[in-house]
Amino acid sequence: MAMVCLSDFEDYAKKYLPKMAWDFFSAGADDSTTRDENILAYKRICFRPRILRDVSVMDIRTKILGIEISFPVGIAPTGFHQLAWPDGEKSTARAAKVMKTCYIASTYSTCTLEEISAAAPSSLRWFQLYIHRNRVVSQQLIQRAEALGFQGLVLTADLPYTGKRRDDVRNSFHLPPHMKLKNLEEAFEVCKMSPSFHSLRWHYGLPPKSLDPSVTWNDIYWLRSLTCLPIIIKGILTKEDAELAVRHGVQGIIVSNHGGRQLDGVPATIDALAEVVEAVQGRVEVYLDGGIRKGSDVLKALALGAKCVFIGRPALWGLAYKGEEGLRDVLRILQDEFRLSMALAGCASVSEIGRHLVQFSKL
Ligand code: FNR
Repeated sequence: MAMVCLSDFEDYAKKYLPKMAWDFFSAGADDSTTRDENILAYKRICFRPRILRDVSVMDIRTKILGIEISFPVGIAPTGFHQLAWPDGEKSTARAAKVMKTCYIASTYSTCTLEEISAAAPSSLRWFQLYIHRNRVVSQQLIQRAEALGFQGLVLTADLPYTGKRRDDVRNSFHLPPHMKLKNLEEAFEVCKMSPSFHSLRWHYGLPPKSLDPSVTWNDIYWLRSLTCLPIIIKGILTKEDAELAVRHGVQGIIVSNHGGRQLDGVPATIDALAEVVEAVQGRVEVYLDGGIRKGSDVLKALALGAKCVFIGRPALWGLAYKGEEGLRDVLRILQDEFRLSMALAGCASVSEIGRHLVQFSKL
């Protein structure tokens, strides 16, 4: 089967992954309106291409937080990569390294942070954090990540509780017995000693009520006291929260609705982007994830002010296809499509991309 575009990888993953894994990867919350809207919203945006602008030499590189990447697409944090490929996050890290881009490793990885960094030494990696009720667990994770050379701390802020993903409920989603949330194994040893251990209803591989729903903006100061890493906050959709993020001293914002897996009914991220970019006024870098499926989607997001975008599900489809090689294929296809879209829109370098490139009715 010729793999020509990202939906070819989606079709493959749907056909070959076990149903429970496929349903988990593709799930949105409730009716999945926001998940689907993330994709549809790109189709409503049209380009205003420029012509006769010498695009014989193209430069698609960019920088995020001062570090160069080969093109403005990184890998969003997603959990449980071993559900897609036996080597799990190690393959993800290797693919990102070869393609010279940024990989955000999830708290809920099925490989340890140590295994991930050993698989792709001196590559650009950020660590994504969920804050646990037991703050020592989170503190230790941050300090491990920093010591291992992760270069950014991404706080996911849109998951005080997990959204209601109907298929996961129907399937009673659980990890196969040989798969573990490796970074948290020690933390859960304590639970195993509890007399009620065997009667606990584990949720997405976690003991019940592990995450801390009481997190507030003040916790950014707590994080700041623990690490020198730049802090990037993921899950912002409004100008009010963008302003608060800047005021609390974060270095970056990821406009994200968690791939439509949390509050159903929030806007597509591409529709929320302009509001956030306008509020931030260049004080911190703004990134986006959600619904990126083509190189031209990347171009639209950059035109509306994103410095870089991240892919969630397409990375999992690439892994499901052929592990590291499959993910490299996904990134290479996006890279080629992005380069071509830029050229056809009349931009020879990323610095030439701007608002003038799109018609956008919400502006
Ligand atoms: C996610 N996402 C996510 N986010 C996060 O901060 N930590 C995590 O562990 C996960 N896990 C996760 C698992 C799966 C299966 C999916 C699909 C998503 C959200 C992710 O980082 C990102 O916001 C979305 O996936 C982006 O949307 P697309 O690219 O999947 O459309």
